[in-house]
Amino acid sequence: MQTNEQLLSALPADSTLAGRTAVVTGSSGGIGEAVARVLAASGAEVLVSGRDPERTRAVVDSILAAGGLAHPLTADLTAEPADVRAFARDAEAALGGRVDILVNNAGVYPGSRTADVTDDEMQALWATNIRAPHVLVARLAPRMAERGSGAVVNIGSWMARVGVPYKALYPATKAAIEHLTRAWAAEYGPRGVRVNTVAPGATDSLGNAKNADLLVEMAKGTPAGVPVRPVDVAHAVRFLVSDEAALVHGATLDVDGGIAATRLR
Ligand SMILES: NC(=O)c1ccc[n+]([C@@H]2O[C@H](COP(=O)([O-])OP(=O)(O)OC[C@H]3O[C@@H](n4cnc5c(N)ncnc54)[C@H](OP(=O)(O)O)[C@@H]3O)[C@@H](O)[C@H]2O)c1
Repeated sequence: MQTNEQLLSALPADSTLAGRTAVVTGSSGGIGEAVARVLAASGAEVLVSGRDPERTRAVVDSILAAGGLAHPLTADLTAEPADVRAFARDAEAALGGRVDILVNNAGVYPGSRTADVTDDEMQALWATNIRAPHVLVARLAPRMAERGSGAVVNIGSWMARVGVPYKALYPATKAAIEHLTRAWAAEYGPRGVRVNTVAPGATDSLGNAKNADLLVEMAKGTPAGVPVRPVDVAHAVRFLVSDEAALVHGATLDVDGGIAATRLR
C-alpha cells in the first residue's frame, strides 16, 4: 500500500474544481494539508491556513510546485469570534473576493479521562472544534447562498458514534459538528449550499505522530486493518465538494476503515 506522501506527491491533475476557490482550515499539516493538496490538484485555488507560518508556507509551496494555485494565511482559530470573522474576510480577499468551498478541518483532540481534562483543554476543544466552524459558516455560507452555490465540509470523527472509555469531550464536539452539518444543510441547502461531514477513523496524521503504535493497534480490529491516511480523507472531501455530489446534503461519509460500523470479533 502506498504511503500518504507517495500519493500526495504524485496526484494526477484534473479540472473537477477548476475556477473554484476553497478555504481549508488547519491545512498546515495532517488531514487538512492532504485536503488542500488534493483540492488544488483538481483545479481549486486554495487558501492554506494554520498557526505555524513556516508549515503553512511549505504546503503552499508544494501546491505551487505541483502547478496548483494556493495562498497562505496564518490564524489562531481559538481567537475571539471577531478575529475569526477577520480571518474569513482576509481569506475571502486573498481568494479574489469569493469563497466557493469551506472545509472546517482544524481541530484538536486533547484530553483523556474525564476527570483529567483541564480547563484549557475544555476551552480549546470548544473554540477550535465548534465555535470557529460556526463563525466561519455564519460569515461565508450566506454569501455562497446569495450566489446560489457553494459547499461546506466539516471534518467529524468516528468517535462521534462510539463511546470509548478514554475520551468523552472530544467525541462530543464531533457529534456537535455532525449535527451542525445537518442543521446547516437544512438552512442553506435550499439556496444551493451543500453541507456534509467526512468522519475519519484513526488517521496517521501530524497530530498522531506520537501515537503510531496505538493507531496500528486500533486498526487491527477493523476491516481495513491499517490506519487511515490523510489522503484517503481528502479524496472523500473532494467528492463531496464536487458536482458529482450534487444531491448529497447533510450526510456523514465515514473514511474510517470500518472502525465505527463493524466488529470483527
Ligand atoms: N488524526 C485522527 O486520527 C483523526 C480522526 C478523526 C478525526 N480527526 C479530525 O481531523 C481534523 C484534522 O486532524 P489531524 O489529525 O490532521 O490534526 P493535526 O495533524 O494535529 O493537524 C491539525 C491542523 O489544524 C491546525 N490547527 C490546530 N489548532 C488550530 C488553531 N487553534 N488555529 C488554527 N489552526 C489550528 C494545525 O495547524 P498549526 O499546527 O499550524 O496550528 C494543523 O494544520 C481534526 O478536526 C480532527 O479532530 C482526526
